[in-house]
Amino acid sequence: MIDIHCHILPGVDDGPAEMSEAIELAEHAVQEGITTIIATPHHNSRYSNNKSKILDEVQRLNKALTDRNIPLNVLPGQEIRIIGEFLNAYETDELLTVNNGNQYVLVELPFSEVPHYTEQLLFDIQLKGLVPVIVHPERNTELMNNPDRLYKLVKNGALTQITSGAYVGKLGRKVKSFSRKIIEHNLAHFIASDAHDIHKRGFYLRQAYEQIQKEFGTSTRYYFEENAELLTAGKNVMKEVPEKFKKRSFAWFS
Ligand SMILES: [Fe+2]
Repeated sequence: MIDIHCHILPGVDDGPAEMSEAIELAEHAVQEGITTIIATPHHNSRYSNNKSKILDEVQRLNKALTDRNIPLNVLPGQEIRIIGEFLNAYETDELLTVNNGNQYVLVELPFSEVPHYTEQLLFDIQLKGLVPVIVHPERNTELMNNPDRLYKLVKNGALTQITSGAYVGKLGRKVKSFSRKIIEHNLAHFIASDAHDIHKRGFYLRQAYEQIQKEFGTSTRYYFEENAELLTAGKNVMKEVPEKFKKRSFAWFS
């Protein structure tokens, strides 16, 4: 399995503080059946982790894993909080796309809102030849209240990633239910852990895939698993035709 969103680099954000904790997280990933992780430190939010810093830290972690014979490959990535100056930061080589150079870029919205410039920015990002992947839309209050906005973002070319822990219910009933609705309406393209530690914010990736298989069938599970591989390889991912939510507010039927 490939996990495309994980805070595994030590001492850079709210993930593991020390290398020993990062190693512990890596061991859990291996037990879970994960072979490749895209390390995605926060950037532009409370934390600042530019491209060159992440590349150095990924190298350091991979060396530590090799020294300990832990069979996990860590690739560079970045979880970028959207800001108006996003493209300036990209031009000045501060931002990192998946695997340092492919077309996918992981973008994070603020928790409770979707800034007014989001549509334009995601459009402009695509004009640069990049593909924005909105991480954990299931946790955003505004999208929950107005899922039509998520539909429009996806219809206009954005991809989305649901968090495995959210899908299996670790973030409460409402977030779990919204995660399912997003998948049902063909508005999700990836499942990833967004793991930060081995306790509260662990992987749950195998559990999520097994549950998806039960609830949506084998082909949906493979769709998500294969998309993680395609993204990592910088190839075009699979998409279904996005569908509008039938009711305006998710809150109405949660
Ligand atoms: Fe994250």
